[in-house]
Amino acid sequence: MSRTLLVTGGAGFIGTNFVRYWMENYPDDRIVVLDALTYAGNPANMEELRNDSRFRFYPGRIEDFTVVEGIFRWERISHVLNFAAESHNDRSLMDPTGLISSNVTGVSILLECSRKYGAERMLHVSTDEVYGEIESGLFRETDPLEPRTPYSAGKASGELQVRAHQIAYGTKSLVTRGSNTFGPFQFPEKILPFFITRAMQDKMLPLYGDGNQVRDWIFVRDHCSGIATALLKGEIGQVYNVGGGNERPNIEVTKMVLQALSKPETLIKRIPDPRGASHDKRYALNTEKIEKLGWKPSATFEEALGKTVQWYVDHRFWWEEIVNSTRYRQFVKAFYGPYLGEDL
Ligand SMILES: NC(=O)c1ccc[n+]([C@@H]2O[C@H](COP(=O)([O-])OP(=O)(O)OC[C@H]3O[C@@H](n4cnc5c(N)ncnc54)[C@H](O)[C@@H]3O)[C@@H](O)[C@H]2O)c1
Repeated sequence: MSRTLLVTGGAGFIGTNFVRYWMENYPDDRIVVLDALTYAGNPANMEELRNDSRFRFYPGRIEDFTVVEGIFRWERISHVLNFAAESHNDRSLMDPTGLISSNVTGVSILLECSRKYGAERMLHVSTDEVYGEIESGLFRETDPLEPRTPYSAGKASGELQVRAHQIAYGTKSLVTRGSNTFGPFQFPEKILPFFITRAMQDKMLPLYGDGNQVRDWIFVRDHCSGIATALLKGEIGQVYNVGGGNERPNIEVTKMVLQALSKPETLIKRIPDPRGASHDKRYALNTEKIEKLGWKPSATFEEALGKTVQWYVDHRFWWEEIVNSTRYRQFVKAFYGPYLGEDL
């Protein structure tokens, strides 16, 4: 039987990749996107989907009960995937309260409507950052949640809503915790597209501290297939880590970007880390649990990075519109102004 998926945050980076992944692999299903089109949500990401009869877009916020309930009633939603969130750690440090309505209240409303309208499954997309940092070894799903930034605390709070609704009301929900994701359509303020697009313009790449913060990188398509696997095969009430198994320090990734674009390492500019000693040094995930469902990441880091760089080279019109906007320039100035001088 065909499904109707509600994909919240579908105009953002992972959401828009997920919509494409799903439409390619499950052509009989319908997709309904609900997105607030914040600075990170881009209508251009959905341009090629708009004429597809299987696709429908609603502008709106997940914390708006009337809107969410209307969609459930009107569209007969069978599955919910919640990608909608304020997703930037550094922004959350500047505005720690602004994310609560999206990352906590909105989750609760999606859960309530999923229960009320009998959704078969509600999957909440969370992050490895809810665990906090780990010096050695790998986080398992049973490890405690010890978030260290307002963003990761917000995501952890959203997860607790999922858990509580599942226990209290039997809502058919589950959670994925994904690692540092990269690929096409990522808004160019996150480190990888920020550095790719700046290097393409021969601008300085402001690297925090010694650049030795280690992240577990996953290609967006692998993250999407992990979420799809958990949605279709995961057990209700469970949490699944979705990690790429590609641990790299930021400095190494930065050098690889420069190499891929044939740009000199002199473009790297080390700047003080705004999070200082509190900046999480390492995240890493144990993925045995989701592997038992038959999932494995398929892309190597080198190959996926190459594809990503090439996408930004081929889609200059997509990111130039963003980086030339006043809002984006204000962001770069607010974060890096003191260190980049005129090279904003
Ligand atoms: N990017 C990563 O490395 C990563 C890793 C693990 C998990 N995640 C999680 O995956 C999800 C998607 O991340 P992303 O990188 O694609 O983020 P993104 O910032 O690119 O996209 C978020 C989307 O959500 C929309 N949105 C924000 N608040 C909303 C609201 N209240 N109602 C409706 N729409 C709203 C935005 O307009 C945007 O389109 C997030 O929940 C994030 O926490 C991201």
